[in-house]
Amino acid sequence: MRITLGVTGGVAAYKSAELVRRLQTEGHTVQVVMTRAAREFITSLTFAALSGQKVITDLFANSDGGDANLDSAIEHIAVAQRTDLLLVAPATADILAKFARGLADDFLSTLYLASTAPVIVAPAMNVNMWQHAATQENLATLRKRGVRIVEPGEGYLACGMTGPGRLAEQEEILKAVREVAQAQQDFAGETVLVTAGPTCEDLDPVRFITNRSSGKMGYAVAEAAARRGAKTILISGPTALETPEGVERVDVRTAQEMLQAVKSGFAAATIAVFAAAVADYRPAEPATSKIKRTKDELTIRLKPNPDILSTVAREKGDRVVVGFAAETDHMAENARKKLESKNADLIVANDVTAEGAGFDMETNVVTIFSRDGRDLPLPRQRKTEVAQRILDEVLRVRGVLRSKRATHRAGD
Ligand code: C5P
Repeated sequence: MRITLGVTGGVAAYKSAELVRRLQTEGHTVQVVMTRAAREFITSLTFAALSGQKVITDLFANSDGGDANLDSAIEHIAVAQRTDLLLVAPATADILAKFARGLADDFLSTLYLASTAPVIVAPAMNVNMWQHAATQENLATLRKRGVRIVEPGEGYLACGMTGPGRLAEQEEILKAVREVAQAQQDFAGETVLVTAGPTCEDLDPVRFITNRSSGKMGYAVAEAAARRGAKTILISGPTALETPEGVERVDVRTAQEMLQAVKSGFAAATIAVFAAAVADYRPAEPATSKIKRTKDELTIRLKPNPDILSTVAREKGDRVVVGFAAETDHMAENARKKLESKNADLIVANDVTAEGAGFDMETNVVTIFSRDGRDLPLPRQRKTEVAQRILDEVLRVRGVLRSKRATHRAGD
């Protein structure tokens, strides 16, 4: 998971440094956000070094004379979107009160409001502060809202008193994190096949026809599926990208090779996402030796490549099939046609001429068209976010298909 770790101002803040390490060992990436008070107890440098990421310290750059490490004025929204879990450890009485009341006067409290990710808080404070009716009421409010509270332990507190208020043991916090991670494995038991990247169609041994696809969209889908618990097979044309963790990658060059790889993977797949930009044509007779330069015009005859998606989706059975449509005009009309002509359940369409969309970009602007008539336009967002939304739609469609089948059977 991508965990945002909120560190607030308590003596226990130093314990969060070790927590960063443990979370990373368990495979999570950690973005640390520190409140102003937390920085009185431990420097942001420690967390930056441990997490390997910039630590966010404030809502506005330079509001306290320092650099808050913000990439933009709406960084809290960007961080919220890439957070799978918001964990606050230690959580002071102050941050609990802010969360409970919806105050948003620093980065962490604003992030809490902007994020839809699950939240875990591990409070740590003086025993009287913990037992105070105000704190207990705030906790009750948060609990009711679904916030998980890792209760503090009892013992000797830094203030010299004994009682509840010590930050929970690391194992307790990690246990809560593992439970959230488990609950997010909504693709467990699924086998997801993804095609990605361009194909290369050889003209001769050294030249080929290809396109500008970077593979980023397909790789993002494969990564998200694997993170969400699916067995994931990525059939990839040549790209410069690294194989996402937990993904089985099959490299191909041509459309024909991709078709073969897809055919052999499709049988075991429960979900197939066709994000590859397959070359529509290939040279009819690739030369076996390098084509020599002459003074004459050269004509290369092309013949159509198989439509991989259409070929295999004809007999898709119970599988949920997702296609893409990169359009320059009449996006909705073309996308709806493709739902039918390709026998797909979803078509992710984008206007490649729109700003912030298309090839070799980090972001995309898409609308997800669905067989059941729902159009889901998405704002411009990172391809990794688009990937998550596509998978959400896949599960929604799967639910619709299942309930339809059940009604069918009941009616038989
Ligand atoms: O027809 P069009 O090329 O616009 O369709 C795009 C969709 O079909 C994408 O999902 C793409 O991966 C898939 N496709 C394919 N094989 C082809 C051409 C497109 O699988 N030869």
